[in-house]
Amino acid sequence: MESPEFDSAAHARSFGAAAGEYARARPGYPDDAVGFLVGDARRVLDLGAGTGKFTASLVARGLDVVAVEPSSRMLAQLRAGLDVEAHEGTAEATGLPGASVDAVVVAQAWHWVDPGRAVPEVARVLRPGGTLGLVWNVRDESVPWVRRVWAVAQQGTEHELRASAATVGAPFGDPETFTTRFEHVTDRAGILDLVASRSYVIVLPEDRRAALLAEVGRLLDAEFPDGGPVRLPYLTHCTRFTLG
Ligand SMILES: C[S@@+](CC[C@H](N)C(=O)[O-])C[C@H]1O[C@@H](n2cnc3c(N)ncnc32)[C@H](O)[C@@H]1O
Repeated sequence: MESPEFDSAAHARSFGAAAGEYARARPGYPDDAVGFLVGDARRVLDLGAGTGKFTASLVARGLDVVAVEPSSRMLAQLRAGLDVEAHEGTAEATGLPGASVDAVVVAQAWHWVDPGRAVPEVARVLRPGGTLGLVWNVRDESVPWVRRVWAVAQQGTEHELRASAATVGAPFGDPETFTTRFEHVTDRAGILDLVASRSYVIVLPEDRRAALLAEVGRLLDAEFPDGGPVRLPYLTHCTRFTLG
């Protein structure tokens, strides 16, 4: 559960402060997950697009892509890496015309939105029969070193994704789900950036943030004393809803 002082809005706004770490460290999304989420859509909205991790997969498929993201600093990273249509906006107010996209995908971000306002907004911008896809990459914490490292950087998103995928409902139909897995190959610095790009860590006071990252560094040194690549296992959980 979230701690009593958890300020969801502050966490949702926090990402811009670590946009560089985010762009460097976060993994992308496996191709079978992308295929499940977009189906045969042609024009796709990547909502809460961040630095463009999911957007890049859509571009690679040759789709007609529009990205919407509230943080100007995240958006600047996205624009630096990708030549796509991109606007500042939120899931609650995308700024897009009605019935203008075949699919909306929200990667690693639905738990930050207000579903009471985001569901009607997504339904408005979708064409009839369009789909809303939600996706989260979740570290496989059945692996002991992964569990040890992330126990230090508490406040996982796992409970959020379970709670929030259930918040869609009418006018969308029943959820269809798909899970796949992959390994993110990185190194010690990459794991530290990954921890530093978590909203829980971004909003900590500087001394507590530094202490937490030092503790993660010590755990990594004990686990991987020879340095070299670190293979971080992930499960990718996808949920797709079709507009009724
Ligand atoms: C964990 S990041 C995911 C970014 C990107 N989709 C990815 O997969 O890397 C969460 C993103 O949600 C954005 N966000 C927060 N509140 C939002 C809202 N109400 N509507 C849309 N996006 C939001 C944040 O600015 C941040 O870029």
